[in-house]
Amino acid sequence: MQNNLRPQSMARITTRELAEEFIAGQIEALRQQIGNRKVLLALSGGVDSSVVAALLIKAVGKQLVCVHVNHGLLRKGEPEQVIEVFRNQMNANLVYVDAVDRFLDKLAGVSDPEQKRKVIGAEFIRVFEEEARKLEGIDFLAQGTIYPDILESGPVKAHHNVGGLPEDLKFELVEPLRLLFKDEVRVVGKALGLPDGMVYRQPFPGPGLGVRCLGAITRDRLEALRESDAILREEFAKNGLEGKVWQYFTIVPDFKSVGVKNDLRCFEWPVIIRAVNTVDAMTATIEEIPYELLGRITARITAEVPGVNRVLYDLTPKPCGTIEWE
Ligand code: XMP
Repeated sequence: MQNNLRPQSMARITTRELAEEFIAGQIEALRQQIGNRKVLLALSGGVDSSVVAALLIKAVGKQLVCVHVNHGLLRKGEPEQVIEVFRNQMNANLVYVDAVDRFLDKLAGVSDPEQKRKVIGAEFIRVFEEEARKLEGIDFLAQGTIYPDILESGPVKAHHNVGGLPEDLKFELVEPLRLLFKDEVRVVGKALGLPDGMVYRQPFPGPGLGVRCLGAITRDRLEALRESDAILREEFAKNGLEGKVWQYFTIVPDFKSVGVKNDLRCFEWPVIIRAVNTVDAMTATIEEIPYELLGRITARITAEVPGVNRVLYDLTPKPCGTIEWE
């Protein structure tokens, strides 16, 4: 039985030394709990599941089976990074599932935001269940639950956990980060040798780009979203805004406007930029991006992303605008 309340005496993990102490203790505890049996983990590539994976690789090596489901709604380069870091660098037992067509087929024509979330969540469980059934002799399910998920404070939901698996697939849970706050998870991740891009990554919703490709998702608009998001992230990184701004991304709505490209009239989508700062995601303020940088991002997106002829900048704080558009 896991203790789910953080003892008052537990020091906040703020330094590498404290992180190393935590890691050593967890390795010991995980080896005790798991013995020579096998553990399954849904590895999204987000901070929490990545740190759980790195810890378990250290503790039980190939007894950990990571399943990375590419649902087609990940940001540019994410599946590749998961494969590079975990399979190539950490030598993990990683099952990569290309479920892009499956998800996009299921999502075709679904325009209601909550319905989209339900479709993505349900399909994720189905894909994960199928992969779990293919594997033999798994006794444990590792999850990236962190302390705020247990306290259920704030609107950022525990999306990384595979709840809702059928009865016969109920594994014993392994939740090594359940007493840690997010900043502590990052310190531990850094001490485990994960790349900064993974450890200091901005929050990314479970339904991923699915709630930023507004209305019914189409493949071409999803690609416009992925490409424009990659350009925004690249420009933020180049201009010192990565790690400074809490969350920043692009949105592609499902309408078009008239423009002119190469002296020809074009009817294409706009891209909306959202960049916000917040402490707890309950309220948020707008990052004041310099006009010059906004201009450069606009020029790049309209030149490099097919199907886009306009870039808009969302100036709405929360309230009254939520951080996501759906
Ligand atoms: P809102 O849009 O409600 O977002 O201001 C607050 C924070 O929650 C994230 N968010 C989600 N995270 N699944 C998630 O895992 C979701 O369905 C979801 N919707 C919003 C959002 O990115 C922001 O950080």
